[in-house]
Amino acid sequence: MAVTFETKGTDSQTISPVRLVLSNVVSIWLAHWTIILPVLFVTRLLYKRYASPLRRYPGPWLASVSRLWKVLSTASTNTHLQHIELHRKYGRVVRIAPDEVSISSPEAARLVLSAGKHFYKTDFYGVFPPPENPDIFTEVREHVHAQKKKVANVPYSMAAMQQLSPFINDAVELLMTKLSTIAGGQAHDARGPEVDLGAWLHYFAFDVLGEVAFSRSFGFLEQGRDVENAIKTIDNSQRYNGIVGQVPELDYLLRRNPLWKFIPALDTKNALITRMALEELGRRKPFDKESEGRWRGGDGRQDLLASLIKGHLKDPEKFAEGDVFAVAHGAIFAGSDSTASTMQSFFWQVLHDRRIYEKLVSEIDTAVANGTIPPTGNVSWSEGQNLPYFQACLRESMRVRPAVGLNITRIVPPEGAELDGIFFPGGTKVAVNGWVTHRDKATFGEDADIYRPERWTEDEERSRRMDRYMVQFGGGAHVCIGRNLALLEINKVLPRLLRDFRFSLVHPDRQLNAHATFFVVQEGLDVFIEKRV
Ligand code: HEM
Ligand SMILES: *[C@@H]1O[C@H](CO)[C@@H](O)[C@H](O)[C@H]1NC(C)=O
Ligand SMILES: *[C@@H]1O[C@H](CO)[C@@H](O)[C@H](O)[C@H]1NC(C)=O
Ligand SMILES: *[C@@H]1O[C@H](CO)[C@@H](O)[C@H](O)[C@H]1NC(C)=O
Repeated sequence: MAVTFETKGTDSQTISPVRLVLSNVVSIWLAHWTIILPVLFVTRLLYKRYASPLRRYPGPWLASVSRLWKVLSTASTNTHLQHIELHRKYGRVVRIAPDEVSISSPEAARLVLSAGKHFYKTDFYGVFPPPENPDIFTEVREHVHAQKKKVANVPYSMAAMQQLSPFINDAVELLMTKLSTIAGGQAHDARGPEVDLGAWLHYFAFDVLGEVAFSRSFGFLEQGRDVENAIKTIDNSQRYNGIVGQVPELDYLLRRNPLWKFIPALDTKNALITRMALEELGRRKPFDKESEGRWRGGDGRQDLLASLIKGHLKDPEKFAEGDVFAVAHGAIFAGSDSTASTMQSFFWQVLHDRRIYEKLVSEIDTAVANGTIPPTGNVSWSEGQNLPYFQACLRESMRVRPAVGLNITRIVPPEGAELDGIFFPGGTKVAVNGWVTHRDKATFGEDADIYRPERWTEDEERSRRMDRYMVQFGGGAHVCIGRNLALLEINKVLPRLLRDFRFSLVHPDRQLNAHATFFVVQEGLDVFIEKRV
């Protein structure tokens, strides 16, 4: 009797075809799994590599079959340098994951990062905490992001930031006092005592954020050290975010795994910065229209937290109470390492080439002599704008060593898009990295690899064109919301440092030690320091 479809019979001769097939499969599997498993695995790799429309693009073999390459590259913390190499080797479009290409053309980068073109953020951003209430940086739902950003744009505007100048002045003053003390101390070198300028700039950037966001000083400058290892903790968490962000699913096994809650060291609620932020938020409650979010017992200054509370009171639907905290707290993370890194790059580049340093100092001296900037005390934003060579040096630092070292990745919209003359299907991930695009010779000149501030002062037309292709602050709907604040504090503190002190590198032949987590965190900016006035 043939195999029938009758299954309810008790006749042991009748076997259902499904069972027959299954039992065969199982026995084959049991006998040969050591072969089948690798074959399936390899087939999957090959499928990823060749069935993809991205198969035409060159890149490391590992990258074309798995995201492991990206994980390793990020974990190496040299990913920014690897990208430069990769594009040298493979050209303008490099496949860096089965579904992701990296592009080196500034023109294409501009398109990917422009508003209204519907290149949306990838799930990379979702791993940045806090998952329960994403801030502007981590929110990947575009419409929600747009709503929140609209409210937050007001307190982050340049006009609002200028109101915060007194906070910044206080931090600058403290930095100056501390450095003066060091410069007045015992020296073993004719060029003055030695100081880790990079660390002090790092403390400064953090303390400014504390003052600006919460009217609180974290005390880094005051104590001259990384209080409670807060800076280190942030760097470690950024390193985690950067690596795990390449395979976001892993986050559920790791940080979002509820089991970790039992390990106190991993609980961020107790971290210095979070603790102070929560405390400050508590002091401002209940929110009401009269106090406009300010602490009733304070000096009446309108800090970022107060402005965000004000935005929340105006539109509680679009900007909830949770957003107030998430955005103010997120500012510390997004704004401190990035600003510190930018200032460190500036100093390292400028001090590395004495010609540039002397030219810059002479511009500052002339500016003091002709009244462009005051001989002592604070330097204002607009005074800083009248130092063209200083501005060129700053811009050139952000070009050669931008503060974000990881790729800014976006998803090609469903209808696909043409980039750099090539059509990419919807869903492809496209990576843009300032370390790569800022070195494009067609845009920035044949000598794009070297630090030469003059490229910004030679021809106004060309300078404007180059500026259009700079991505140090990202672009489009996700352009850095804190750039006004960052530029304000940088323009206030750097000219003042150059005016009041004389610096030289302790190890002129040593590179600045840089590792990219998300931001490029730098160490080793050791300088000799002398007072000038
Ligand atoms: C020189 C200093 C800074 C640099 C170079 C910088 C760079 C960037 C870049 C490249 C992005 C885009 C990231 C992406 O699309 O993946 C970004 C976004 C952002 N930055 Fe900054 N940043 C700086 C300072 C600040 C400061 C001081 C704050 C806050 C106080 C801040 C807050 C943010 C936020 C909230 C976003 C997300 C914006 C959005 O997605 O709409 N940044 N920044
Ligand atoms: C990021 O993009 C660059 C080029 O823009 C690429 O070479 C690099 O491999 C990418 N890195 C990662 C970790 O995705
Ligand atoms: C400069 O900043 C200091 C410190 O905040 C402040 O006391 C002083 O009034 C400022 N000076 C001017 C001229 O704005
Ligand atoms: C004053 O000095 C600055 C900086 O060197 C220079 O750019 C500016 O043109 C000078 N202004 C006048 C009026 O000489």
